[in-house]
Amino acid sequence: MRTLFPFNDGWIFTPGFNGTATDAVVDGTPVTLPHNAVDLPFAYFDEKSYCQEFTYQKRFVADSSWAGKEVSLVFDGAMADSVVYINGQQVVAHPDGYTPFEARLTTHLHAGENIITVKIDGSENPAIPPFGARLDYLTYAGIYREVWLRVTDAVYIENCKIETPNALADLKSVTLTADIANPQALDLTNSQLEIVLRDANGQEKGRTQAAVSGTQAHIALEGLQDIELWDIDNPALYILTLTLTTPAGVDETAIRFGFRTVEFTLDGFSLNGRIIKLRGLNRHQSFPYIGYALGRAAQERDADILKYELKLNIARTSHYPQSRWFLDRCDEIGLLVFEEIPGWQHIGNVAWQKASVENVRQMIRRDWNHPSIVIWGVRINESKDNHDFYEETNRVARALDSTRAISGVRCIPESELLEDVYSMNDFILGMEEIDGNRPRTALRPQKEVTGLNKLVPYLITEFNGHMFPTKIYDHEQRQAEHVLRHLEVLDAAYGDPQVAGAIGWCAFDYNTHKDFGSGDRICHHGVMDMFREPKFAAYAYASQCEPSEGVILKPVTFWTRGERNHGGVLPLIILTNCDEVVLESGSLPPRHFAPDRKRFPHLPHAPVMIYREDYPGQEFGHWGMGWQDVVFTGYVDGKPVTEVRFVANPVASQLELVADNQQIVAGDCVRLMARILDQVGNKLPYMFEPVSINIDGPAELVGPSNVSLSAGAVGFWLIARGPGDIVVNVSHARLGTTQVKIASTAGERHE
Ligand code: GAL
Repeated sequence: MRTLFPFNDGWIFTPGFNGTATDAVVDGTPVTLPHNAVDLPFAYFDEKSYCQEFTYQKRFVADSSWAGKEVSLVFDGAMADSVVYINGQQVVAHPDGYTPFEARLTTHLHAGENIITVKIDGSENPAIPPFGARLDYLTYAGIYREVWLRVTDAVYIENCKIETPNALADLKSVTLTADIANPQALDLTNSQLEIVLRDANGQEKGRTQAAVSGTQAHIALEGLQDIELWDIDNPALYILTLTLTTPAGVDETAIRFGFRTVEFTLDGFSLNGRIIKLRGLNRHQSFPYIGYALGRAAQERDADILKYELKLNIARTSHYPQSRWFLDRCDEIGLLVFEEIPGWQHIGNVAWQKASVENVRQMIRRDWNHPSIVIWGVRINESKDNHDFYEETNRVARALDSTRAISGVRCIPESELLEDVYSMNDFILGMEEIDGNRPRTALRPQKEVTGLNKLVPYLITEFNGHMFPTKIYDHEQRQAEHVLRHLEVLDAAYGDPQVAGAIGWCAFDYNTHKDFGSGDRICHHGVMDMFREPKFAAYAYASQCEPSEGVILKPVTFWTRGERNHGGVLPLIILTNCDEVVLESGSLPPRHFAPDRKRFPHLPHAPVMIYREDYPGQEFGHWGMGWQDVVFTGYVDGKPVTEVRFVANPVASQLELVADNQQIVAGDCVRLMARILDQVGNKLPYMFEPVSINIDGPAELVGPSNVSLSAGAVGFWLIARGPGDIVVNVSHARLGTTQVKIASTAGERHE
């Protein structure tokens, strides 16, 4: 039987690597995985600080029951170049920071204590993709994902691919290809594989078995009844349990998957035969201070934010395979994914290209059972054409997975299309600022980009970003322009049936190299900041959902008289999915406003736009005039459903502290947001005063305990290091202390 033990506690971490000491544990800091080798300040740091070697060591006792079994360590991910030793003997080297790898310990185990040593080199080694040139993101060193100790019988299931060939038929089927590992080369006569299909409630839907003789087994279940399709609104998941019986024993594993079809055609993207316009954002997997090393809860939470707060239907894992927890969550909540190999503009030499092809193989073999993944990116993001290299990435991807479209993200027009879908980072909006001949254009016509004389499946994979960086503390007019640019591209994508969808740059601000960002080592390109606190542009996306999924009403203003040039709040964009919005302020009669479908004819929900001409001669907040409170009321189907109020005289009134979750499992992390609000609950956008964070209980604070608010809010993460009550106090000089309690319960979450 197979057992999978979390292998994350009790590591000893040391900077540097003493090559001779791999069979003895050197003095160092006790750490738990996931772990970030060098924590960084929020901004203005030296990003070379983690570009060096590190050592992780762990003692463990081999159990006598493991005799004759296969014992491996499974690393979900470590950055950037890892070498694993057991008792001084090297067992595996893995020069890639984003894909998993295994260290086979079987023949090296001693009775009693054993020592694992992992050498990590965080350098930007030009032999390893994505390195070799400049890079607009950081690749924080460390064993930043979980490690598992896997003990199986001598013959075991190494991997399996599940396909659902006729998912739209009434009677459905599942085909399975299982790779069987038999490292001890045992005779497999009389071996067999049984598969059992169950729905998410555990109800059996079918079972079958087949004889196994070699290292690959094919098996199918046909005529399956009452199977629900996986869809974005109803992400029905099924579990296939595989039981392999061989002379060595029994190995069992379970894989979760879904029944669905995905296709990119000239009509766009279709899921289960239904065209869906893709509306998404790119996601980097980084967090403030701790880089990549936040565990399951933070990964899941990001997926939830993209789906439920930003109301997206797709995310792109720019620019590398991301955490399995993130992808698992996308499966669970129905968030589509564009996943791609590591890389950024630069293509290295032939050996580098081979490593990149290997990344294609590893990414697809790790992730082919995720129903959420609908397309593979098999070009280096924004690289030049390289026919031979990309023929090979395409060939490998197609051979591994014939069920999904493949693509590759480019920014260079007329680049060679070897893939199924031409994906373009179209940064044309904003070019009018430097190219006087071009009028403001949201998206270029497809044929102008591809240079082809025919239409092809076409997807926009980035826009905005560096063309209009916008900080959460930027002034209202700039943020309003940021909103307009996101709306304009979305509107253009919705209006063009030749565009499968648009995935903007990007969801969250991210730390980056000195060559990029605002000099502070931050690209302020997100519609949310690094704490995942929304900027106004977040609501450009959120407001595109139906009111039944959440009513959105977000006036793009701080409602102050002197914030904008000339004063006042007009023109005012109100991001909303309401049918109409009523504005009431002071002695002005209430006014109804409808969404501006003239200016945004294609959006599912055009914003309400209030122009200066709507209030001739009595413009709000004209310099020197009085200033009043306001209430905006949103109506759906003729009924008031939500309202937003602003006061004319905001004062700091309340220190709010909100945890994403007040019940967590030891080992998990949780985000908290502290905000200073005015008397009606609005965040004070120009509040930058300091607060202090105090934690009592079994938890570790990620980042410093004295921080300044940024635009009225600051976030932080806690990692629960054991069971018990965690009391979090945040204090502010004027507003006192606010407390939140979090219960951390025992137990480790398994798959
Ligand atoms: C693109 C690139 C992204 C990011 C973005 C900023 O060129 O693919 O990674 O740098 O620009 O707008």
